[in-house]
Amino acid sequence: MTDIKKGLAGVVADETAISKVNPETNSLLYRGYPVQELAATQPFEAVAYLLWHGELPTDAQLDEFRATERAHRAMPPEVKEAIDRLPLDSHPMDEVRTAVSVIGAVETAGIGNVLDAVGTPEENLERSLKLFAVLPAIVSYGQRRRRGEEIVESRDDLDYAANFLWLTFGEEAAPVVVDAFNRSMILYAEHSFNASTFTARVITSTLSDLYSAVVGAIGALKGPLHGGANEAVMHIFDEIGSASAVSDWLDAALAEKRKIMGFGHRVYKRGDSRVPTMKAALDTLVAHYDRPDVAELYETLENEFVSRKGIYPNLDYPSGPAYNLIGYDTLTFTPLFIAARITGWTAHILEQQASNALIRPLSAYNGPDERHIEEYVPDT
Ligand code: ACO
Repeated sequence: MTDIKKGLAGVVADETAISKVNPETNSLLYRGYPVQELAATQPFEAVAYLLWHGELPTDAQLDEFRATERAHRAMPPEVKEAIDRLPLDSHPMDEVRTAVSVIGAVETAGIGNVLDAVGTPEENLERSLKLFAVLPAIVSYGQRRRRGEEIVESRDDLDYAANFLWLTFGEEAAPVVVDAFNRSMILYAEHSFNASTFTARVITSTLSDLYSAVVGAIGALKGPLHGGANEAVMHIFDEIGSASAVSDWLDAALAEKRKIMGFGHRVYKRGDSRVPTMKAALDTLVAHYDRPDVAELYETLENEFVSRKGIYPNLDYPSGPAYNLIGYDTLTFTPLFIAARITGWTAHILEQQASNALIRPLSAYNGPDERHIEEYVPDT
């Protein structure tokens, strides 16, 4: 009997030097650094640099990196035109996926040959940085467009996280909000061979281009078993309403065998290493916006679900209500995940390109035995 690893569970598909997930010690390291230390001390730009280059930047390197990031923040006109042509009720994940596809077509125009589409390592690093720089404008414009608000231009005097919030809301966010948002971006940046990253690596392994790999990764991230869970968590919070309704809601949900979004993880079985840091960020937002009701609902659902099922929250559980408090529409939550994960995806694309082998697993056939057309009898 062939030993089938459904969902590739437990399969080690390749090596990576980008991050290490250790469920035994409940730790996540980016290039060796614990993610909670990075979230507490670094701007997201420095973590993007770390993921791509393997080391944290010096002050001079960070200044140069930030100058390049600022130079590429504006949406190319083709991208805005493409977004404007989409229905207002398109899902924002489809909108961002389309935008990245348009950027790819524009940036690689003139490369008529598929053999050249993959580009050099230097070109791909530059493409990665440009996508990282422009995604806040795309995600923010999507939310503003749906709300009937005018586009806001970037502010060169603001760092990445502060500028992102400025682009979305058209006003400067309080430092405590910028800090919580910056932490969330760092926590979402990278997580080894998750479904979307692996999708990007599979596409890259065919020697396709970086944009195609990112578009595929966005498609994988949209699913509620993966990134779409942060949106789904908020739908659940809205459905429950308040802490006093948790018990009855959970009775009914479990009776219907519903999956409770924001709980469970393929790798972590005793808790997601990123949750305590994001929960602490959520707590600062709860205090800032004076919304103890949010913390009460959060904690009641967590306590009840964990005590009944022994399944712990993942990062999407605290990040959903955090983004809601900041003022993001629920449908914008997973696009925020894209803006963060673009760093990890592209680091993996670069790593895959540097040491490529076509990813092509086998399957165990379980269809009909061999048969022949001459034996075919039409079913009348
Ligand atoms: N709610 C209810 N039951 C659950 C949940 C959940 N959130 N998660 C797991 N279970 C149950 C399953 O029903 C299953 O029970 P069974 O053995 O009685 O059938 C058992 O736990 C094992 O679950 P699987 O789905 O097989 O475990 P897997 O490792 O494949 O699942 C996954 C991981 C997909 C994340 C799952 O926990 C889930 O669907 N969670 C909800 C979606 C979610 O929050 N995704 C975000 C992932 S993290 C991220 O992207 C940042």
